[in-house]
Amino acid sequence: MRPTVAPYPAARLRRTRTSPAIRGLVRETTVTADDLIWPVFLRDGAGERTAVPSMPGVERLTVDLVAEAAQEAAELGIPAICLFPYTGPEARTEDCAMAWDPENLTNRAIRAIKAAAPEIAVMTDIALDPYNINGHDGFVVGGQIVNDETVEALVKMALAQAEAGADILGPSDMMDGRIGAIRTALEAAGHRNVSILSYAAKYASAFYGPFRDAVGASAALTGDKNTYQMDPANSDEALRTVARDLAEGADMVMVKPGLPYLDIIRRVRDTFGAPTFAYQVSGEYAMIEAAAANGWIDGEKVMVESLMAFKRAGCMGVLTYFAPRMARRLKAG
Ligand code: PBG
Repeated sequence: MRPTVAPYPAARLRRTRTSPAIRGLVRETTVTADDLIWPVFLRDGAGERTAVPSMPGVERLTVDLVAEAAQEAAELGIPAICLFPYTGPEARTEDCAMAWDPENLTNRAIRAIKAAAPEIAVMTDIALDPYNINGHDGFVVGGQIVNDETVEALVKMALAQAEAGADILGPSDMMDGRIGAIRTALEAAGHRNVSILSYAAKYASAFYGPFRDAVGASAALTGDKNTYQMDPANSDEALRTVARDLAEGADMVMVKPGLPYLDIIRRVRDTFGAPTFAYQVSGEYAMIEAAAANGWIDGEKVMVESLMAFKRAGCMGVLTYFAPRMARRLKAG
């Protein structure tokens, strides 16, 4: 007997794609300015900006200019700005003391931004690499990155940033126990409402190359970060680091890098339902910009599509160098 089939496809999935109106109606994901955290690079001096060659369109800004930039970002509806200091060899020492100096570049920038644009949340980076003579996120003793001594220094760094007025602390160092230690110290110092966005699943990635140029770490770094950042081959391990960081007092968690790790984002969101973020890192930005500059892809469209992909994968928001460009585009409609 021949099977009886309707003379038309049972489901015409193309019906909901027929017009912009219907496509808009059934769209599952949107990107808004609210989803964006803007990472910016700081430099010493006043009234000056320096281009970062491996990140076209990205500049290092002096404190006065970053305060202006934060004001513009706030006007564009960007909720948060994240600070990364450029440091030359002269700021790098073995004891990394500059990391918790209230007058370091980051702490001065926090105060300037809070004065100029109090409504924008200021996020920081907690790791010793900008101030470490060897470019590592932790102290190096006898060729080893020592965990617990590093955590003590990270706590001092966190307290100095909270004292300067930071709203969100971002430990990016991948030492064990740092979230709990920082949270305990914040509570003891009365900083009850300072958030921690933990770089929980941070992989030892080659996609960080342009960032290390931008912050002056490329020349300083000896060896690799494989004994503290995660092996890109691992997925279950990300669930363990996220569970640990949430239990220790992280309010939000991050997966980093971004696009090559969308599977991790989805697992983290589904498993914990916690505020989940991704970092679209420097190498991802550089690849899109380089291909766009060659006319090989439409950079604007790829920017929008990539940010959409993070939302679809389960992110509440994305740290992205595209933040101001995307926010401007959204504002223009
Ligand atoms: C360092 C830090 C890195 C990034 C953010 N914080 C680099 C690294 O771990 O070597 C990378 C960000 C990017 O590539 O855009 N603590």
